[in-house]
Amino acid sequence: TQLILRPRLSLHRLILALIIFCLLSMEAPPLPFSRLRQVKAVDNSRTDPVVLVFVESIYSQLGQEIVAILESSRFHYRTEIAPGKGDMPTLTERNRGRYTLIIYENVLKYVNLDAWNRDLLDKYCTEYGVGVIGFFKANENSLLSAQLKGFPLFLHSHLGLRDYRINPNAPLLYITKPNQVEQGPLPGDDWTIFQSNHSTYEPVLLASTKSSEALSHFGPSPLRALHATVVQDLGLHDGIQRVLFGNNLNYWLHKLVFVDAIAYLTGKRLCLSLDRHILVDVDDIFVGKEGTRMKVSDVEALLNTQNKLRGLVPNFTFNLGFSGKFYHTGTDEEDQGDDMLLQHRMDFWWFPHMWSHMQPHLFHNVSVLAEQMRLNKIFAQEHGIPTDMGYAVAPHHSGVYPVHSQLYEAWKSVWGIKVTSTEEYPHLRPARYRRGFIHNGIQVLPRQTCGLFTHTIFYNEYPGGSKELDKSIRGGELFLTVLLNPISIFMTHLSNYGNDRLGLYTFESLVKFVQCWTNLRLQTLPPVQLAERYFQIFPEERDPLWQNPCHDKRHKDIWSKEKTCDRLPKFLVIGPQKTGTTALHSFLSLHPAITSSFPSPITFEEIQFFSGVNYDNGIDWYMDFFPFPSNVSTDFMFEKSANYFDTEVAPKRAAALLPRAKILAVLINPSDRAYSWYQHQRAHQDPAALNNTFHEVVTAGPSAPRDVLALQRRCLNPGVYASHLERWLQHYQPSQLHIVDGALLRSNPALVMEGIQRFLSVTPIFNYTQALIYDDSKGFWCQRVEGGRAKCLGKSKGRKYPEMSPESRAFLAEYYREHNMELLRLLNRLGQSLPSWLRQELQSTSWS
Ligand SMILES: *[C@@H]1O[C@H](CO)[C@@H](O)[C@H](O)[C@H]1NC(C)=O
Ligand SMILES: *[C@@H]1O[C@H](CO)[C@@H](O)[C@H](O)[C@H]1NC(C)=O
Ligand SMILES: *[C@@H]1O[C@H](CO)[C@@H](O)[C@H](O)[C@H]1NC(C)=O
Ligand SMILES: *[C@@H]1O[C@H](CO)[C@@H](O)[C@H](O)[C@H]1NC(C)=O
Ligand SMILES: *[C@@H]1O[C@H](CO)[C@@H](O)[C@H](O)[C@H]1NC(C)=O
Ligand SMILES: *[C@@H]1O[C@H](CO)[C@@H](O)[C@H](O)[C@H]1NC(C)=O
Ligand SMILES: [Zn+2]
Repeated sequence: TQLILRPRLSLHRLILALIIFCLLSMEAPPLPFSRLRQVKAVDNSRTDPVVLVFVESIYSQLGQEIVAILESSRFHYRTEIAPGKGDMPTLTERNRGRYTLIIYENVLKYVNLDAWNRDLLDKYCTEYGVGVIGFFKANENSLLSAQLKGFPLFLHSHLGLRDYRINPNAPLLYITKPNQVEQGPLPGDDWTIFQSNHSTYEPVLLASTKSSEALSHFGPSPLRALHATVVQDLGLHDGIQRVLFGNNLNYWLHKLVFVDAIAYLTGKRLCLSLDRHILVDVDDIFVGKEGTRMKVSDVEALLNTQNKLRGLVPNFTFNLGFSGKFYHTGTDEEDQGDDMLLQHRMDFWWFPHMWSHMQPHLFHNVSVLAEQMRLNKIFAQEHGIPTDMGYAVAPHHSGVYPVHSQLYEAWKSVWGIKVTSTEEYPHLRPARYRRGFIHNGIQVLPRQTCGLFTHTIFYNEYPGGSKELDKSIRGGELFLTVLLNPISIFMTHLSNYGNDRLGLYTFESLVKFVQCWTNLRLQTLPPVQLAERYFQIFPEERDPLWQNPCHDKRHKDIWSKEKTCDRLPKFLVIGPQKTGTTALHSFLSLHPAITSSFPSPITFEEIQFFSGVNYDNGIDWYMDFFPFPSNVSTDFMFEKSANYFDTEVAPKRAAALLPRAKILAVLINPSDRAYSWYQHQRAHQDPAALNNTFHEVVTAGPSAPRDVLALQRRCLNPGVYASHLERWLQHYQPSQLHIVDGALLRSNPALVMEGIQRFLSVTPIFNYTQALIYDDSKGFWCQRVEGGRAKCLGKSKGRKYPEMSPESRAFLAEYYREHNMELLRLLNRLGQSLPSWLRQELQSTSWS
């Protein structure tokens, strides 16, 4: 039942082909060739599967569209400029494949690869069962007809096509439903068709040529034939499966097929299920101005459409957000519309949208805010509106993100809110980056725009023309939102349901279009269940990533005027622990132009925000550790938390909030650090440290007791300096990072502090030679106070304990040797000077 396209279609074959097309039912697709063979695993043990995208340049249009679809789908990818010669990126890592799919923006770059690289790539694809997607975009220079180099496949370019249809036999079809023909001409005259008599090629999309003249170079047939412009290579020719597009992604159907091609070629590893949940919020119920509101007939239409939609989307229910203060503030007819809505209140879902449509961030006093909410609740109770949906939306997204903690508190106390939604996290644009998070027990879901705003009231006055709205529905942005998001909450407004009722038109058309062209199962759920579903699908989105509210104009506009973005540090001392960071903190605090964070009652001079559960408290909590810049003589603020250094999430979180911060790390010999940590734990009565010698701890094998292994990890792991620093360097520029030699800090702090001041560009330069004094009895440099006496850190610092045993030192020198070599290479790469202990360590161990 394969449809084989031949270079020269004879008349009877052509008619046969047409008949096959019309009659073919949707049988189960045959198992493709390479699925039957054993293939090596692509690496998905540590990370999600990654797509390798070869683009023409970082600005190329099609490349950006490919990436946009991958990003919207939350697929991981890596882009590379398609190599001409000799620089194919590494495809494997420790005998595992790095990429699960290869995409070429320009398939000619693929077929014209030099033999060496092509061989490399082909071997990779066959060994790991990796497929290739490629696009053929004709340009002025490309030939009209040619064989695709190395393949039994012929191309004919520069064609105008019409009447697009889907071959129901193409195995890759999953979301795409094949029983439609898109009548009429396809845009552009630069289509390419593929022809072959090899059974490895299965057409996916076919069209007729626009004019019979265009056929002249295929032979004499005067009939309009069907030509494949997207083909699927089943791997029967060379064992590699491919999907080739005879154009770019501009045409909407190509985006749909592209999504299916990704799913198919990755064995559904990069694929959503067919379920799509949608929720349509109607904000601003009662709020609209006279002339924009719903009348009785509009409410009837709303109910009718809702019923109609329920036939297509089970249980579909409009979700109405009300501001009670504006009830009955329209014309008489509109006031009757208000009453009609209330009369049918049990047919809808309801959520509070603030009594007077005020922006919550304007309320600093949580009880005043709660009072506003209570008014809306009383209104709901008086009018029998259900109050138990657990969902709310803030006017203008205010207070949701950036988080105004008062809003979360008031929502919970007045309404028992569990779910809200916003377009603002992490930013409004691009929409494909919108994500959810959970804060203070409230689940925040991303909210999608559907192209209808408060002022889009009339079809004919749609911005850019009504065609734009229809384009968005028919395969454009709105359609893609549903295609690429398993859960979509759409924002609309009361005014979209009066007058031309664009809201009804949009969603009815959208649902019909989706059902016509796709196998997607449209569904809905009440918000609380929707949120549960959302975080089941995307558990990695539970934790938020806080950003500076003033770095986004829209966020700044909904950030309380009583708060500021200036109560944030300019630099961080990140540790690791036991390297002298407390001494450094105290020295920095002596500086007249540097201000430390306030002490914490629990963690003393450290805040430990980016490293642990404190992060859940949000940035209001963090900022409370810093003075208002207006209250202090300097805004050159910093904080020190020594466990940031080796905490996995800390660099990412720090960089999200403090992208321009400078970072100080203090490094001593990692063996000494390990020993010091062990002694620290002994002093804190850690049984594992008390019951085991240091040597036993660091040499313990995997079968040792858990608490011993935990102690071992805390001794050894932070000392793997290079790999922790590399993680910081994924988020910060090398110029933002300064390595402090902890040994030198101890022996000659004035010198080190001078280097730090230069790095920070802090003025005036403070003279630490004058400010510090060596305390003979302590054996440390301390603050010089009145009368030239020394004021030193408390006795928990600079503990005295016996020397490390030579065996342990030898063991650790060996343990850290390779890690120290890596540190050497890293510091050389960064152009940072080498700590003296590192030189010594490498010299002594290299002879051992
Ligand atoms: C396909 O076409 C080529 C060239 O036209 C021909 O040499 C070859 O025998 C054909 N193969 C099949 C299977 O028909
Ligand atoms: C529709 O809603 C009812 C009541 O909430 C529920 O029992 C039923 O399972 C829902 N149907 C579907 C198809 O979701
Ligand atoms: C908040 O407002 C209430 C009522 O107006 C007032 O009693 C209370 O003192 C205010 N609280 C604060 C912290 O200002
Ligand atoms: C700092 O200034 C703010 C107003 O700018 C004031 O409300 C606050 O009390 C001051 N805090 C301190 C610790 O001086
Ligand atoms: C420490 O060692 C003592 C004596 O061997 C033993 O009784 C005790 O249970 C040990 N404690 C822990 C926490 O391992
Ligand atoms: C700091 O003070 C010492 C002693 O008073 C002096 O010798 C030195 O030159 C000063 N250093 C700088 C950089 O001003
Ligand atoms: Zn609103």
